Amino acid sequence: MLLREQLQIVNKLLNKLYTFDYDSDHMKFKEKKNTNKKISRKRGLFITGTDTGVGKTLVACGVAQLLRKRRINVGVMKPFATGNQIYSRNFKSQDTELLAAAANVGDMDNELNPVFFPIAASPLMASLITKNHISLKSVLSAFQRIRRMHEFVVVEGIGGIMVPLTNSYLLGDFVKLLGLQLIVVSRPNLGSVNHTLLTVNACKKYGLDIVGIIFNRMPSRPDIVESMTPQFIRKLTGIPIIAIIPEQARPNSKATGRCMERWFADYIGVDQQTT
Ligand SMILES: Nc1ncnc2c1ncn2[C@@H]1O[C@H](COP(=O)(O)OP(=O)(O)OP(=O)(O)O)[C@@H](O)[C@H]1O
Ligand SMILES: [Mg+2]
Repeated sequence: MLLREQLQIVNKLLNKLYTFDYDSDHMKFKEKKNTNKKISRKRGLFITGTDTGVGKTLVACGVAQLLRKRRINVGVMKPFATGNQIYSRNFKSQDTELLAAAANVGDMDNELNPVFFPIAASPLMASLITKNHISLKSVLSAFQRIRRMHEFVVVEGIGGIMVPLTNSYLLGDFVKLLGLQLIVVSRPNLGSVNHTLLTVNACKKYGLDIVGIIFNRMPSRPDIVESMTPQFIRKLTGIPIIAIIPEQARPNSKATGRCMERWFADYIGVDQQTT
């Protein structure tokens, strides 16, 4: 099928959809009243995703690049990281190295990434295995220090929003403590509708504010499901699409940042007017 014909079919099908809001207490969708959220200034964004490996680091690096291009002093953080081994002498996690390079910051690794376990598992599981306690208080202090040093902070999560950190805190509880708005990184392929709705629903339960969803790794020749998924999810959730990032032969944070340029111009613009 030609791509143009496919898009026409997708648009026709999407016109039949209404925007719904998931009412988790009653386990059903209810009609949504107002989808136009005003963006308030929070001086930072938390990048979460529908799963591990979905593209949070690439997106966070893209956001950092964009902000730098606008001469904003941007800080980055990867509060919790786990992996099979320590990455390098300077950075325990590769994500921290990529984030620090994209933002061009010289903050210390233990401030950028206060919690690291050399076991690829959730922080709670890794802490149980290694018998090491996680102090959320010290992670929050590191965040406040990074925040004082920079105008805007981009924080990358770990896995998805319900990753357990301690016996009493999941990642969503932690984001609530930071008080940041979120970007959700998703994919356009089969399975994403379920993962994205679960993520959106969990964020709502925590009272978190999702500013938009990014669909990463759109193939150059998408099938009808992949073409339809971003708008399908936008219609179902009422949450704006920030960008659709193509599959890249060599993933690059500058090119990724350019995909989000238009949305960020509005975001930063509205932001400045409200302060
Ligand atoms: N648009 C893209 N095109 C091609 N490769 C991509 C794209 N986005 C991400 N990747 C690759 O997919 C892998 C996972 O991406 P990334 O590290 O950004 O995901 P993540 O969500 O941060 O993962 P983690 O949960 O481990 O932190 C990386 O090797 C990255 O280079
Ligand atoms: Mg990552």
